[in-house]
Amino acid sequence: MHISRILLGALVATTLVLTAGAGDSVAHKKKNMGAGDAVAQKKMMGAGDAADKKKMMGAGDAADKKKMMGAGDAADKKKMMVAAAPKKKKARCKDGQPTEVASYKLSKGENIDLQISTPLTAKAGNPKDGLKWMVHRRLGNCIACHVVSKILALAKPDDLASQAKYGFHGKIAPPLDGVNDRYTEGELRLIVVDAKKAFPDANTIMPAFHKNTGFTRVIKDCDGYAMMSAQQVEDIVSYLMTIK
Ligand code: HEC
Repeated sequence: MHISRILLGALVATTLVLTAGAGDSVAHKKKNMGAGDAVAQKKMMGAGDAADKKKMMGAGDAADKKKMMGAGDAADKKKMMVAAAPKKKKARCKDGQPTEVASYKLSKGENIDLQISTPLTAKAGNPKDGLKWMVHRRLGNCIACHVVSKILALAKPDDLASQAKYGFHGKIAPPLDGVNDRYTEGELRLIVVDAKKAFPDANTIMPAFHKNTGFTRVIKDCDGYAMMSAQQVEDIVSYLMTIK
């Protein structure tokens, strides 16, 4: 900076102080106050204001946040829930299970005491469908308890889908291999319709698949329903007859 500029600046400053009228002491005070006040203010702010700010923020902000979140979140949640709400759920046991059971006549069996020698339906059973009901995890699910080698053979080792469908057999019941040799068709029919009647002394855990009364503590949705229709029983019996 040029020296003349500095001089000019000093001159202007002096003139200003003098023309202020208050003189040096006032300017000095002012300066001091300026400094002192600012420091005090800063200190106070530092301690009081900042603390107060924090407190207020702490209280206010948190409360506001909560309010906002409360409102926003709830609304968002509701929106999301509406969006994600599944279509009206089908009542269990009302998506195909029958309420009707066929009437049947019990006759004397050959290997067990009783059998149902007459088919439950006019239409002959279809073994292909029978296999479907037997591996169906909710309908027959026979393989949950029984090993059936013929079905196990359908589970390919390199195909997870076929394993999920046909594999993983339970072993808490006799294997069904060779049932065709051990029972008559009428006996197999009774075993599937109502295993408790087929094995009256066994207190068997095998479900009665074609029965809609006499159960205890049935869930409300399923009261009055049978696990399988007469046709499904016939389909299964026809498949059992193919198991050598
Ligand atoms: C919860 C397990 C369970 C399920 C599910 C089950 N069973 Fe059984 N089943 C048994 C038991 C246990 C026996 C042996 C009878 C006894 O309790 O003494 C049996 C016996 C049999 C027998 C006579 C076997 C023999 O050699 O003496 C046949 C046939 C049979 N079940 C077919 C089926 C069919 C078909 C299904 C599916 C529609 C099925 N079971 C579902 C448990 C089950």
